Amino acid sequence: MKFLYFFSALNLSLILIRCAPQTENSFSDDAKIYGVVDGSEKFLNFRTIIVDECSACHGDFASYTAEQWVSLGYVVASDSTNSKLYRRIRGSSVGGEEDMPPISILSPAQRETIVEWINSL
Ligand code: HEC
Repeated sequence: MKFLYFFSALNLSLILIRCAPQTENSFSDDAKIYGVVDGSEKFLNFRTIIVDECSACHGDFASYTAEQWVSLGYVVASDSTNSKLYRRIRGSSVGGEEDMPPISILSPAQRETIVEWINSL
């Protein structure tokens, strides 16, 4: 019986440790990794636009690595014209749907930043 108490106490403390509020990314350092996945400042600049302009509705977008953008089919490396992500952006003028963001429009500089990252891959 004592044995069981010991284990449930252990379990409880493990749960408490796991649920402790996360105040920093010291475990996986993922905040840093996101920015340097392809080692480039271009990716960071791209990601800033995604966070500012898209992630309110597309919550997952902010966490994607460069590889995920490609493997999930949003980005075709070195080919912004054929990248689903870019084709959805208003004003991209490459023959896509051009309907994102739904109620605002990215600046030409923001669109150019997206193109620069995709075409650098
Ligand atoms: C106000 C909310 C909102 C914002 C902001 C927004 N989107 Fe969307 N987006 C949607 C909705 C809703 C859909 C689904 C409707 C559809 O597919 O036509 C969608 C669909 C998409 C899709 C196709 C569906 C998918 O995930 O495969 C892409 C790509 C996309 N958005 C990209 C963007 C990008 C890039 C931005 C920022 C520049 C952006 N969106 C900003 C609401 C938003």
